[in-house]
Amino acid sequence: MSQPDTKHLIGLLLGAEEDWPRAYEQLLARLGPIRTADGTEHEVSVQRLTIEPFNLRQDVGPDLVIDRLAYWYYHPREWLKKAALVNGTYLLNSPFTFQSMEKHSAYCAMLRLGLKVPETVLVPYKHPVDNARWAYTAAKYNQPFDLDAIADDLGYPLFMKPFDGGGWRGVSRVGNREELHHAYDDSGEMLMHLQQSIEGYDVFARSLTVGAETMVMNFRPELPMHDRYAVSHDFLSPATGAEVLAISRLINAFFRWEFNSCEVLVRGSEVHPIDYANACPDIAVTSLHYYFPWAISALLKWSLFCTVTGRRPRLDLETAKYFEIADSDRSYAEKLTGYAALSESYFQTDRYLEFCASSVPDLDDIVREWVASVEFDALLVDTVRATYPQAEHERFLAHFRGLLGMWQADNAG
Ligand SMILES: Nc1ncnc2c1ncn2[C@@H]1O[C@H](COP(=O)(O)OP(=O)(O)OP(=O)(O)O)[C@@H](O)[C@H]1O
Ligand SMILES: [Mg+2]
Repeated sequence: MSQPDTKHLIGLLLGAEEDWPRAYEQLLARLGPIRTADGTEHEVSVQRLTIEPFNLRQDVGPDLVIDRLAYWYYHPREWLKKAALVNGTYLLNSPFTFQSMEKHSAYCAMLRLGLKVPETVLVPYKHPVDNARWAYTAAKYNQPFDLDAIADDLGYPLFMKPFDGGGWRGVSRVGNREELHHAYDDSGEMLMHLQQSIEGYDVFARSLTVGAETMVMNFRPELPMHDRYAVSHDFLSPATGAEVLAISRLINAFFRWEFNSCEVLVRGSEVHPIDYANACPDIAVTSLHYYFPWAISALLKWSLFCTVTGRRPRLDLETAKYFEIADSDRSYAEKLTGYAALSESYFQTDRYLEFCASSVPDLDDIVREWVASVEFDALLVDTVRATYPQAEHERFLAHFRGLLGMWQADNAG
């Protein structure tokens, strides 16, 4: 029998961020070698990846890559595709599912799966796409349509937003016909959805998923970034909390997304998903604050689980298994239960939990010590200095130190 591979390299593909990569590196160093249940010792190292020419036949170094760059930078995106196809590298996330399945695809999948996506219509481009063949094709095949009638059908107010949205680009809340035409005229070459608004929702829940772990947080999109995640624990009823968790896991497992954030609007007892495709989610300490230690631990645990246990990338979508449940005459609740079994099987949840308990049993203590350390405080100071104007440094440092102090108090060993 061949010896298990005991040296592993995790690659980080990064943009401007310094905070979480530094946190990840520091915690991995504090953790040291990992001993699995059979007594084998694994050495895991981490490297920040650089952008270089690559031969398509070339080996790649890392066994697993955590990517926060390829959503806008195409050279590393193409490198990831080659790594997935030629080298079988484990990717968080695979560009095949993430870059090719945007918000619109997630809506379609969720509709088919029986989730309560608000009524949504895709309208043709307002302005010609930049292609010499457009004028001829459009004159021949583009049917005239009545934008007002579509909007009247959906009802005001409604949201107009790009089919592949992200970062609030091109999103408008439209209150009447005049605003509708204004928003559509402004959409230019963006392809737009019109979507019924969930008015007067009680809670906006945003859940961050890393592999088998999901944190559901109370999100306030109207506040500045550092205040958007409220620290609140029982803001959903147990049943609604479980539903939000189940839906997030379902969509992530369905598309094989292992690092993603999902947004739902909860009104009464109804859960309406509005945004389930957020590739490379923001996990900056200045946005997550209280939840940052959780996010870094989850990222560390999941990437170690994948590399040390040799979990293979499983990109085959197996949609038929999900649709079999979707198309059955089960109730909504029964479908969610059925999907949960598929999600757990995809994420190998039991195996993951067993790995955490047996192979990284000290990790939670190590994270606690680290958050209380001078090393962590230095990271916070550097991040605040790099993020805010000088006059605001003291205020923000006090703000984040307070929130992380609260995390320490709530998570004392
Ligand atoms: N159907 C809806 N009903 C009510 N509010 C909505 C709806 N769709 C979008 N919104 C509001 O508009 C915001 C932006 O919409 P959405 O999340 O779809 O776009 P985005 O570009 O992905 O933004 P972000 O990157 O902030 O998530 C949401 O956070 C929410 O406040
Ligand atoms: Mg969103």
